[in-house]
Amino acid sequence: MNNQGKTGIPESEINQRVEALLAKMSLDEKIGQLNQVSGADFSPGPKAVDVIRKVGAGSVLWLNDPRRFNELQKIAVEESPSGIPLLFALDVIHGYRTIFPIPLAMAASWDPAVAEQSQAVAAREARAAGLHWTFGPMLDIARDARWGRIVEGAGEDPFLGSAMAAAQVRGFQGDDFADPERVLACAKHFAGYGYSDGGRDYDPVYLSEAQLRNVVFPPFQAAIKAGVATFMSAYMDLNNVPATGNRWLMRDVLRNEWGFDGFIVSDAFAVINLVIQGYARDGREAALRALDAGLNMDMASGAYLDNLAGLVNDGSLTMAQIDEMVRPILALKVRMGLFEHPYVDETLLEKVVARPDHRQAARLAAQRSMVLLRNEGGLLPLSKDIQNVAVIGPLADSMEATEGSWMVFNHKPAAVTVLQGIQAKLPGVSVAYAPGPEIHRDIPHPFGEFDSAEKKPPQTAEEAESAYQTALETARGADLVIMVMGETADMAGEFASRGSLDLPGRQEELLKDIHAMGKTIVLVLLNGRPLSIRWAAENVPAILEAWEPGTEGGNAVADILFGDVNPGGKLPVCFPRNGNHAPLYYARNITHLPESSPRYRSRYWDDLPTPLYPFGFGLSYTTFSIDNLKLSAAQVKVGESLTVTADVTNTGKVAGDEVVQLYIHQKWGRDSRPMRELKGFERVTLQPGEAKTVSFQLGPDELGYWSTHAGAWIQEAAAFDLWVGNDSTATLHAEFAVVG
Ligand code: BGC
Repeated sequence: MNNQGKTGIPESEINQRVEALLAKMSLDEKIGQLNQVSGADFSPGPKAVDVIRKVGAGSVLWLNDPRRFNELQKIAVEESPSGIPLLFALDVIHGYRTIFPIPLAMAASWDPAVAEQSQAVAAREARAAGLHWTFGPMLDIARDARWGRIVEGAGEDPFLGSAMAAAQVRGFQGDDFADPERVLACAKHFAGYGYSDGGRDYDPVYLSEAQLRNVVFPPFQAAIKAGVATFMSAYMDLNNVPATGNRWLMRDVLRNEWGFDGFIVSDAFAVINLVIQGYARDGREAALRALDAGLNMDMASGAYLDNLAGLVNDGSLTMAQIDEMVRPILALKVRMGLFEHPYVDETLLEKVVARPDHRQAARLAAQRSMVLLRNEGGLLPLSKDIQNVAVIGPLADSMEATEGSWMVFNHKPAAVTVLQGIQAKLPGVSVAYAPGPEIHRDIPHPFGEFDSAEKKPPQTAEEAESAYQTALETARGADLVIMVMGETADMAGEFASRGSLDLPGRQEELLKDIHAMGKTIVLVLLNGRPLSIRWAAENVPAILEAWEPGTEGGNAVADILFGDVNPGGKLPVCFPRNGNHAPLYYARNITHLPESSPRYRSRYWDDLPTPLYPFGFGLSYTTFSIDNLKLSAAQVKVGESLTVTADVTNTGKVAGDEVVQLYIHQKWGRDSRPMRELKGFERVTLQPGEAKTVSFQLGPDELGYWSTHAGAWIQEAAAFDLWVGNDSTATLHAEFAVVG
């Protein structure tokens, strides 16, 4: 499905209205529509209001104020020459006011319905605030945990990533662009951004066409199938061509091959950045190369506004080329009914954010996204009768860390912290608490300067030491210590790559010192990326990966720790033993010394090359068996499908969720293929003793691939291995063949 038809208005009428608008617009007004203007004070260049009054604008970003939206909209509609309303856009990544788990966590739910529902709530709140368009979902496959933006995506796998992409698009957009409770989605960053060299944000990317087509592109294609309205071009160089000036990406692949008929916005300032990147001599050439490559809208750089008229006047561009870029922007404005309903009801937001079902949805999403990494001796769930408990760690009572990175502009933190969640579960018990020393980035986040919140001066060395000693004392008096550690919100996200994946600051030291006292410890992690928690994985009996769980995060953690909810999330990324092992991912190709070889373990002479926790891994308070693997045929023809079934049984004593996962490997072919690739999954809930048969289809989409050798998509006659189980090391195995 493409965008055609996703509205009540007939396609012919949309086209007529767009052509009628174009016919009366001057060149300057058309260029206005190709421009996204910044509503924030920090941006250089002319003020939004002046630009809008003079030539209008396609869109406004970095503004989050319903009253101001209406003021600017009035100017656009009543004072700008063609009276075309504005699209208000912002990054609503995992919630507007009610904050949901970060997207990496949502992927850990392995439950697309949860992602869809979360983004539907985010859309309803954002729309009530006057926003029409979100810059999400972020669909970059990321296999290097050092890269800070891994937090915004669905992790390392294209199959899981595609399911999450489609679900998020459906959640944001619904199935009608005119729905007043939805926003337009934006598939970003097209494409390859997750592969920056060394995980350093924005660094160049070198990817083969096979990697792009087999790994990087699938979530974007899934977003198109789900009807995504817009795309965003990425910042970085892809094989020496910046994505924002990349004709192959934007025209050949996205529009001509995939039939995308929405519009593409650049990343922020990316058009003028083409000059800095050495891809254009000046702003004029940058605008020319970006537009020629197929980029519709310039986000905030002003290069289109400053240069396109000159380029048309001197014959470098034609009016037809400008019209081609304007058309899909106008078409979306018509489709969503913006001309009929340009304004927002300024009283709506507070009513919408007060809906109790929004908080319930946030709690459910947080519960379903958490991953139990370790539970020696069944330490968890804890009894609610415990009396003497201490909660320790710099994130235990941090609303910011609980909500996580990528808050909407001017958001005020308001999460239930882990400490508060635990206190609420244990009424009448006095829960001891000590944060220990604060943790900080060594190099401050550049966005900090835009943040109007009052900043506390960092702790002095003496204050930090005293906080450390207080934490030890607090632990000494407790029978059970719940330690809440990880990363602050600004340690993952944009401008937030790291060279190490260790717990920052003195957190691990504190963990070790409290462990050395002989205390029973439960470690709760709040973080936006895999961390190397090797010592904890060997020494701390219970570890819950809670990610950055959002507004209801603390309640959801307590629900799991005290057994009201049984955790069922699974890792959407491998956890490396050590940050230096990044990139690390399960779907690698087989080498001449495969994992089955005893020498495989010597990949590094100083460490094991295998992950600490594999992709797909997560424990439960119950146990499951997966067996009775059956294939509908031992052999299928190219182009045919086969059905795979297996039984999953809850063999333990409490109800719980298991995510049954199917992996395949093509044993030979024109190209070498990954040793395993996820091709099916289903999260099921089972009562004790209950069994269910899960069923997967394997057809040409799952069995084909883009071949370097053939330079095309192919499906081959070959033999396949297949595994079904509960993580990427599953051992229940079968074989089948595809024949010509
Ligand atoms: C980010 C985008 C974001 C844009 C607008 C950029 O810096 O890379 O992901 O959508 O800013 O805020």
